[in-house]
Amino acid sequence: MGEMIRLTVFRYDPERDAKPSMQTFEVPLLKPGMKLLDALNHIKWELDGTLTFRRSCGEGVCGSDGMNINGVNGLACITPVAGLKQPIHVRPLPGMRVIRDLVVDMDHFFDQYRQIEPWLQTSTPTPEHERLQTPEERAELDGQYECILCGCCTTSCPSWWWNGERFLGPAVLLQANRWLVDSRDEATGKRLDQLEDAFRLYRCHQIMNCMDACPKELNPTAAIDSIKRKILARKS
Ligand code: SF4
Ligand code: SF4
Ligand code: FES
Repeated sequence: MGEMIRLTVFRYDPERDAKPSMQTFEVPLLKPGMKLLDALNHIKWELDGTLTFRRSCGEGVCGSDGMNINGVNGLACITPVAGLKQPIHVRPLPGMRVIRDLVVDMDHFFDQYRQIEPWLQTSTPTPEHERLQTPEERAELDGQYECILCGCCTTSCPSWWWNGERFLGPAVLLQANRWLVDSRDEATGKRLDQLEDAFRLYRCHQIMNCMDACPKELNPTAAIDSIKRKILARKS
């Protein structure tokens, strides 16, 4: 038999299990560069069809397979198994209600996303063709628009674990900044009014877990800082 990989995976079906448990699996090393998602798919398809997890694109684009891998949040589909200490501990994103196994309830996270009204808002008349941006204005969106809303940052943020009902968390604040830096958006004042709140924005204590957790190498801490500076600037 070829090389085997050992995983221990969080299992919990709230309708049947009194409490969660960890289940160990052995999966063959299927190919060079094999990702953790390949191992989970192998478990589901060959060993235990009841294992439940979200995934779609398999390419780090859809953001649906965020999970906690050896204690660090990340996307299973772009995490190579080769670099991981074994057995690989696979758990759901922390601080979230588990629906089943690795699937967590993302409703509150997306409710918070809706709160920042994540769409272009304008008050000037719509131009005949398009709202133009200079290359420099477009470059302002770099490091913001790439966010895939996987939740890896927000669910690694202690401030969000403790105050998640009101603190928007790093992912949503990075998205808020995405609209603030968009030269075409004309709702900056209203957006800053909504963010200027002791809990919604200012619960970030710069612990920086979010930056370390982001699989797209984005920097939510810098985005939060940029929002705070915009609020300060308009006061002066
Ligand atoms: S820097 Fe702010 S948002 Fe990021 S993990 Fe720390 S407290 Fe949370
Ligand atoms: S900032 Fe990064 S970790 Fe956070 S939701 Fe967006 S892509 Fe995921
Ligand atoms: S499956 Fe889409 S990001 Fe991993």
